[in-house]
Amino acid sequence: MTNTNYLIIGSGVAGLTLALRLAEQFPNKNITIVTKANPDESNTKYAQGGIAIVIDKNEDSYQKHITDTLICGDGLCDEAVVKMVITEGPKRLKELIEWGAKFDKNPDGNLNLGKEGGHSENRVVHHKDQTGYEIERAILRQVYQKDNIIVLDHHFAVDLITKKNYCIGITALDEKTKKLQTYTSEITILATGGIGHLYGHTTNPVIATGDGIAMAYRAGASIKEMEFIQFHPTAFYDTSTDSKFLISEAVRGFGAYLRTKEGHRFMMDYDSRQELASRDIVSQSIDLELKKSGDNYVFLDCTHLDLVAFKKHFPMIYKHCLTSGIDIAKDWIPVVPAQHYLCGGIVVDTNGKTSVTNLFACGECSRTGLHGANRLASNSLLEALVYSGRIYEHLANPDLKISTTDYKISEIKNTNKPEIDSDYLTELKTKLQHLMRQNAGIVRYHTDLQNAKEQLLEWKKEIKMIKKTHQVSVSYYELSNMITIGSLIVSQSLEREENRGGFLKLKMTSFV
Ligand code: FAD
Ligand code: SIN
Repeated sequence: MTNTNYLIIGSGVAGLTLALRLAEQFPNKNITIVTKANPDESNTKYAQGGIAIVIDKNEDSYQKHITDTLICGDGLCDEAVVKMVITEGPKRLKELIEWGAKFDKNPDGNLNLGKEGGHSENRVVHHKDQTGYEIERAILRQVYQKDNIIVLDHHFAVDLITKKNYCIGITALDEKTKKLQTYTSEITILATGGIGHLYGHTTNPVIATGDGIAMAYRAGASIKEMEFIQFHPTAFYDTSTDSKFLISEAVRGFGAYLRTKEGHRFMMDYDSRQELASRDIVSQSIDLELKKSGDNYVFLDCTHLDLVAFKKHFPMIYKHCLTSGIDIAKDWIPVVPAQHYLCGGIVVDTNGKTSVTNLFACGECSRTGLHGANRLASNSLLEALVYSGRIYEHLANPDLKISTTDYKISEIKNTNKPEIDSDYLTELKTKLQHLMRQNAGIVRYHTDLQNAKEQLLEWKKEIKMIKKTHQVSVSYYELSNMITIGSLIVSQSLEREENRGGFLKLKMTSFV
């Protein structure tokens, strides 16, 4: 058993920035980061467009950003939270820059600000089309310089340990030793990111399996708005891989057009903001166009854009297209919507507190009220930064009294049972991903959701039985968590009566 002062699960922007702040504030306390893959592997690392922050107060204002966020969230945002997050943004950006993250500048030395769907002004701070990579690089470098932060990579957090609604730590599987271990802490923070792999076709890396949310759910924490799954309109169409390469929304902000194969700029038929309508509207419009035409993808046309400037802003996207046989100077890019982000998750208050005592959450796994029914582009990195800051400020308050409970933790018995056949786990995962795409995608049907609910219940029972007779692995835990998350998405989709933002449910079945 290992004890630490602060236990953080996840090493994306939310987890790492919180660890840094705590380490600086409490040099005599230990911070342990448990992370399931390489330390930098995270959704954060792949973020392209940037961070939405009001910088240019002549053209832009907090109020404009607040209004854009509220419109995008389609009436379901918590207005006080929106205001708080947007006004705290500049302070958090300053910290990131002090930690060494570099952002693109104009020749006059001011930050270069990009534009994305749903934004009325240019306000997206970025590092070319690799903003997340740059942030992760800079903050991880800082983390390694802190003597009081321990990073346990390739350690998979399995479950929260709770007593009488107090969180006292976690159990985690060390992938090297294959042993389950206990980590106790006065304060535990979940920063475990998204759920993309539940859908298979996603812009997220394979680590995004919803583990933190499933753990919190098992511990009795409140989980809300799981029905609001965000599908990014423009993932590169590629049948050779499940993980889809993203063509940043900033490319549409730069002037690219969406076209059918006949060349029609169809977004003009759907929204006056055309290609820069919010993500829910663009994805639903593409979905409709594809259903009408029977095609597998639409196109993003960049051929009219300044090629030199494009290559400067989007070097990774340019290179990816070229190596896939698309020369953006003359070819249109084939694109299709793919799962991208979860707007709901573990319910937290404005200090990042969950409904379980001494358990906090921040970043994509949390539901803060910022996004409502649909997240505004580039508001996610902002939310993660602001909430890791809020948790830090709460914990650093000298008047804070952390209440504790008595507990006794029994020794974990690591047993020797036969391993589960990995083909079985892979097959079940493929079936689950197919089910989620078919029955809980951009457009959902009541009957499909009901069928999915029953199927998920069956799989839940099946996978629980296997645990009794077999040695379980990371793949097993991930699959089990994904089934839990699938059930939450499906049941909360069934409960929602009203279509809002990224949620669209129709009454008839898809086969009518
Ligand atoms: P993550 O960065 O996903 O980190 C989660 C961490 O938890 C990882 O280290 C993971 O390994 C660890 N973890 C998970 N489960 C376990 C477990 N069981 N045990 C131990 N560790 C675990 N947002 C924007 O605002 N702007 C953008 O431009 C933008 N572009 C994006 C582009 C792409 C391709 C993607 C995928 C997302 C993009 N987003 C963007 C969304 C944004 O990147 C994420 O929402 C945000 O980075 C999430 O940060 P996080 O720290 O909450 O989670
Ligand atoms: C993108 O670059 O299109 C992603 C931005 C985001 O997810 O906020």
